[in-house]
Amino acid sequence: MMNDLNQPPLTDAQDQELRIALYPGTFDPITNGHIDIIERGLHLFDRIIVTIAINVQKVPLFSLEERSAMIRECFQNSDRVIVGCTDGLIVDYALKNNAHAIIRGLRAVSDFDYEFQLALMNRRLERTVDTVFLMTAFRWIYISSSNIKNAARCKGKITGLVPEHVERALQKKFV
Ligand code: COA
Repeated sequence: MMNDLNQPPLTDAQDQELRIALYPGTFDPITNGHIDIIERGLHLFDRIIVTIAINVQKVPLFSLEERSAMIRECFQNSDRVIVGCTDGLIVDYALKNNAHAIIRGLRAVSDFDYEFQLALMNRRLERTVDTVFLMTAFRWIYISSSNIKNAARCKGKITGLVPEHVERALQKKFV
């Protein structure tokens, strides 16, 4: 994986006035639940950097390039959503890109404990970056990238849970 520290920032000096948020995650793959959170975030922020980050406990099915291309395709008509990646700290990537907020989606109470710890750790690492929690729409509360992958692996119907191009990509992985 590329180290983002070798890449130029995705924002520049004239973006200082914009309200920019990172939306970090593994996105293996992006789901309609993630898209719902991004769309909600666009009501609050001028720009969202969907940031593919490393969770050391996960072995992704899709490569970084595949995940990135799938996210880009979802937002090809919006210049307010851009895709980044980092193998470093999320808060460092946020500062580098003039972002002072991290968006995380909450689906159920069970998400809260983990998210609470992550948010507090990020705050401990960098006080100027805050975490903003958004509630996902009720119809997405039960989905995760893993349960969609598991269904696709067993040829289950995942139509309507992910965008069509993601559904095709999953079917291709599990032919
Ligand atoms: N709709 C559907 N699914 C959702 C969702 C939503 N709205 N919100 C969360 N999920 C699912 C994801 O699909 C994912 O499912 P999976 O576990 O089956 O893959 C799961 O909930 C949560 O994963 P995700 O949001 O991708 O986060 P993560 O826990 O994999 O990754 C990172 C967390 C990458 C943000 C975190 O590890 C990180 O910040 N890493 C960088 C290093 C760092 O800065 N560390 C310091 C902080 S400790």
